[in-house]
Amino acid sequence: MLERAYLEAGDPRGESGFGGDEARWERARRPIVSAIGRDGTFLDVGCANGLLMQSLAAWAGEEGYRVEPYGLDLIGSLAALARQRLPHWADRVFIGNIMDWRVPFQFDFVRTELEYAPQHRRREMVERLLSEYLSPGGR
Ligand SMILES: C[S@@+](CC[C@H](N)C(=O)[O-])C[C@H]1O[C@@H](n2cnc3c(N)ncnc32)[C@H](O)[C@@H]1O
Repeated sequence: MLERAYLEAGDPRGESGFGGDEARWERARRPIVSAIGRDGTFLDVGCANGLLMQSLAAWAGEEGYRVEPYGLDLIGSLAALARQRLPHWADRVFIGNIMDWRVPFQFDFVRTELEYAPQHRRREMVERLLSEYLSPGGR
């Protein structure tokens, strides 16, 4: 259901599962930049069509930081859409489940949502992110 709704949304925010216009997207997602505050790599777990990768790199750039974005998504067709939309970052978009993906290297910043894991496994998910996904000093 989710895959079809995203793929048929017809606009980049809808393809990321977000309802609303560009201004609403920016109000909702730009605050993530304030949690960064330096150069580094950024992994969006649940990247869908890659819009957050793209937006965050641009917004961080406006604040004077160089953020190198990466994405991970459970659904292959959404990862394919992200690669198609962002061909210069195609090799940075991975397919996998946050709960068992084998992290190829660690990231300085990782964003995700607790709802990507069943409630009884959310602690495990967060511990996994902290111990395996993040580089030392990462957020
Ligand atoms: C609402 S979209 C998030 C889009 C975007 N990153 C944003 O900032 O709004 C949720 C995405 O998370 C992905 N997802 C859900 N559970 C996941 C999991 N366990 N591992 C990886 N991706 C997952 C879905 O396939 C979907 O594309």
